[in-house]
This record gives sequence, C-alpha cells and structure tokens, in this order.
Amino acid sequence: MKLSLFLTGIVILLFILWLLISPPRIWLNTTKVVEPTAETGAQLVEKYQCRNCHRIAGNGALKAPTLDGITLRSDDPLHVTLRLWLRNPRAIKGDTAMPNFHLSDSEIEAILAYLIENDRSR
Ligand code: HEC
Repeated sequence: MKLSLFLTGIVILLFILWLLISPPRIWLNTTKVVEPTAETGAQLVEKYQCRNCHRIAGNGALKAPTLDGITLRSDDPLHVTLRLWLRNPRAIKGDTAMPNFHLSDSEIEAILAYLIENDRSR
C-alpha cells in the first residue's frame, strides 16, 4: 500500500517535471491562449524581455540581431522560419544563445503580428 502510494507520487512528480521542462504543444496551446494581435505581441515582448538581447522599434540591446526589419529581410513571405525561431530556436541553430520560451501558437502569432506591424511603420 505504502509503496504504491510512493510510486504514484513519483509518477505525478515526473509528469509535472515533464510539463515544466519540455511542455508539449498541446499543453502550451491550452494554458497560454492569447489574442493574436500586434498589441498582445507588444506586451509579450515585454513579458519575455526580448529586448534584453534584441533591438525592437529602436529600443533594446544589441546582443542579438536587431529585429527591426526582420519581417522584410527574409525572402519567405509566409514567415515559416521566423515562426520556428520563436517556437524552438535550437531547431534552427543548435548552439544558439536564444532561449526557448515555450511560446504557444497564439503567442507566436501575436509576436509575429507585432513584428510585422513594427516593420510596416518603418
Ligand atoms: C538571451 C538573449 C535572447 C533573448 C532574451 C531573445 N533572443 Fe532572439 N535571438 C538571440 C540570438 C543570439 C539570436 C541569433 C541566433 C544566433 O545566431 O544564434 C536570436 C534570434 C532571433 C530571431 C531570428 C533572427 C534572424 O535574424 O533570423 C528572432 C525572430 C528572435 N530571436 C526573436 C526573439 C523574440 C521574439 C524574443 C522574446 C520572446 C527573443 N528573441 C528573445 C538571443 C535572444
């Protein structure tokens, strides 16, 4: 009886660790649903502190490439690669300093909308 309780505890603990360390998309997309607008994107850029490394709309550090003009620089009109950067930076560049923020799909769309709007107003 006690052993099974202990084992159940371990399983629950491992499950929680899994959600924290490597959350599956379905979990992110249920727990982090946002309005995919440029306005939300601007808030998310603050929340995740992208400007600690990137310059966006003229503000922020230059530890990483500036994101001003990023949606114009690419020759990919559907921004597939940009979305992948936001989803899993290491999938594009294995040794990148860019952290994986475990963004949900709607968060990615919101940030992309913000970056597109930012470039449109340039
Ligand atoms: C700890 C620093 C850091 C933070 C914080 C960070 N990034 Fe990055 N990011 C990088 C680095 C470094 C690169 C360049 C990739 C490389 O060459 O390794 C990069 C690359 C990118 C790219 C691709 C740029 C290109 O030229 O194709 C995008 C888009 C991007 N980051 C968006 C974001 C967004 C949005 C956030 C906030 C949610 C963010 N980053 C937060 C470091 C950071």
